[in-house]
Amino acid sequence: MKILGIESSCDDTSVALLDCSQKGCFVIREKIASQINLHKKYGGVVPEIAGRAHAEKIVPLIEEILKGQPKPRAIAVTAGPGLITGLLVGVQAAQTLSYALKIPLIPVNHIEGHIYSVEIEAKKKISFPALCLIVSGGHTELILMKNHGQQKIIGATKDDAAGECFDKVAKLLGLPYPGGPQISKLAASGNAGAIIFPRPMLNDANFDFSFAGLKTSALYWLRDNQLKNINDFCASFEQAIIDVLVKKTLRAIKKYHPKTVIMAGGVSANRKLRRTLEKEIQIQFPLADFRIPQTEYCMDNAAMIAAAGYHHAVKKDFTPWNKIKADPNWKLF
Ligand code: KG4
Ligand code: ZN
Repeated sequence: MKILGIESSCDDTSVALLDCSQKGCFVIREKIASQINLHKKYGGVVPEIAGRAHAEKIVPLIEEILKGQPKPRAIAVTAGPGLITGLLVGVQAAQTLSYALKIPLIPVNHIEGHIYSVEIEAKKKISFPALCLIVSGGHTELILMKNHGQQKIIGATKDDAAGECFDKVAKLLGLPYPGGPQISKLAASGNAGAIIFPRPMLNDANFDFSFAGLKTSALYWLRDNQLKNINDFCASFEQAIIDVLVKKTLRAIKKYHPKTVIMAGGVSANRKLRRTLEKEIQIQFPLADFRIPQTEYCMDNAAMIAAAGYHHAVKKDFTPWNKIKADPNWKLF
């Protein structure tokens, strides 16, 4: 069935049309209008600017995606969590389209979208139980899924998300927003053992994370030392984040024995993190199926919202257009 996905929860306006079946979810058309250049000079996303930019782009993008296409079976739209200024634009566009064309509507949780990003352009479906590490600019969570729609958060960050920590430390270094890709590029030719940064909560007997202290120790290091080699600094900082994410995930696999291990969200685009977690899972849990999205689907995109929506559409889990609400704090679990 054809599903239209709409995503506007942060700084990307994205619309995609997917063909989904039991064989997998395949992209027919997709478009992303990135707002990075608008927000760059402020060093982060400005909600009012984001809202206006989403409002400018959403209708032309939907028109472009649907041009010459038959009516989709359903519309899946991100209804939260995220910035209210962006969510309102996506949700209202979806409501209008649903009402005008009589297409059933599915509100999708953004985190659920990231999870299903591993099913885009992949012939294999997720097997359960699944353990998901969601690492993005707004979230760092370990989620255990017994089945579609049956999830529980087993660990989450107590303060900053991993991507937020990358972005804030990049700002301290004078690197442009978003900082994660910048740091990882510089880190590739640096020595990860040059500076010993703390590994917060690494040995705590839980699956929670904390990254605010790591950001502060990077700040103090830059205050107290002369930065001679930015590559070494980035490699050492990146390693501290990777060590914590990988060790906690491995410990959760050991406890919950998932059939599938998923890593998704913007930070999952980090090459060293992908390589390290994949290698450790292969060595320690060779029976677990490790799934990561294709790099282009790590960051926010509408294809993942359509892929998540598909599982609701199969169950006819639709919401009337006048009942759906944007919820910036939507907690899925
Ligand atoms: O999933 P996403 O697009 O938006 C949220 O839902 O938050 O994630 C964006 C985050 C940003 O913090 C960005 O710096 C980070 O993902 N990111 C990376 C890399 N690519 C993107 N962090 C580390 N290494 C990367 N290669
Ligand atoms: Zn996201």
